[in-house]
Amino acid sequence: MIYSRNRRLRVNESMRGLVKECSLSTDDFVMPIFVMEGDNKEEAISSMPGIFRRSVDLTVKECKELFSLGVKAVNLYMKVSEDLKDNTGKEAWNKNGLMQNTIKAIKDAVPEMIIMPDVALDPYSIYGHDGIIENGKVINDATNDALARMSVSHAEAGADIVAPSDMMDGRVLAIREALEQSGFHDVGILSYAAKYASSFYGPFRSALDSAPKDDLEIPKDKKTYQMDFHNSREALNEVYKDVEEGADIIMIKPGLPYLDIVAKVREAIDLPIAVYNVSGEYAMLKAAAQNGWLDNDKAIIESLTCFKRAGADMIFTYAAKEAAILLNK
Ligand code: PBG
Repeated sequence: MIYSRNRRLRVNESMRGLVKECSLSTDDFVMPIFVMEGDNKEEAISSMPGIFRRSVDLTVKECKELFSLGVKAVNLYMKVSEDLKDNTGKEAWNKNGLMQNTIKAIKDAVPEMIIMPDVALDPYSIYGHDGIIENGKVINDATNDALARMSVSHAEAGADIVAPSDMMDGRVLAIREALEQSGFHDVGILSYAAKYASSFYGPFRSALDSAPKDDLEIPKDKKTYQMDFHNSREALNEVYKDVEEGADIIMIKPGLPYLDIVAKVREAIDLPIAVYNVSGEYAMLKAAAQNGWLDNDKAIIESLTCFKRAGADMIFTYAAKEAAILLNK
């Protein structure tokens, strides 16, 4: 009817503030961090402008800075040297491995930082797969045993929440049981429940040198465990199973092309939902901004806010630090 004018509530910033349906805060951010061996070392990742691989000492320094900006959670990824890789991924549960040492160092320096190590075998695998390979296939249950050992070793080092990103069936239960048996009742599980086989992971795989190896004997991609991007009902099946197995937080990944999945899962469950604004999404935004085709700051704040609108509670994003600086202005 004619007297209904939607523009009334958009007249100025204060009015728009009153009717805002969601908001973005540094509380929502989880910063993914790439770590490598060495001292005082930092290497830029060319396809991800502004993102670096750093040695443990510089990683700790970065965590202090992030915490002071209000970013209170980090998700850790290791660049593992080739000589430590094998098919079992056993370096992943080395008590003195790079991951374990990084967790300890961050906990020591910034005790309130929430530490979420990635749990998956790909950075440790000679094949670049998230699981153990037998007869040319990624095998599920033996991989779960490895992921459970890896999770316990992260917990021993001081992790707050382990984040399995591998997409094996039943791994949430395997990890939960192992954590309980080792007395880590309070260490949570953030499960990548709906993780798709996506081309948007490219820059991440080059950052860690973790892409599936080009070898006729092994699967050339991750489609036998990560989800098919044609599907959305299947995401709910994945989510319900992980909730039943004891996940504390549910992840959907990638992010921006998958907001329909975030909204659908939000309707279906009441656990906290995380979304991953992945490396390829970050690279696209940066490439456009560097060419002057997009306003970097506005595009970052808009896309991160859209995750909140879709129903996510927390956002894994390489733009966390930049966005925190913008929000603190
Ligand atoms: C692997 C893992 C990947 C990412 C996080 N954990 C890549 C993959 O599944 O191949 C991608 C993150 C990103 O692209 O930012 N377990």
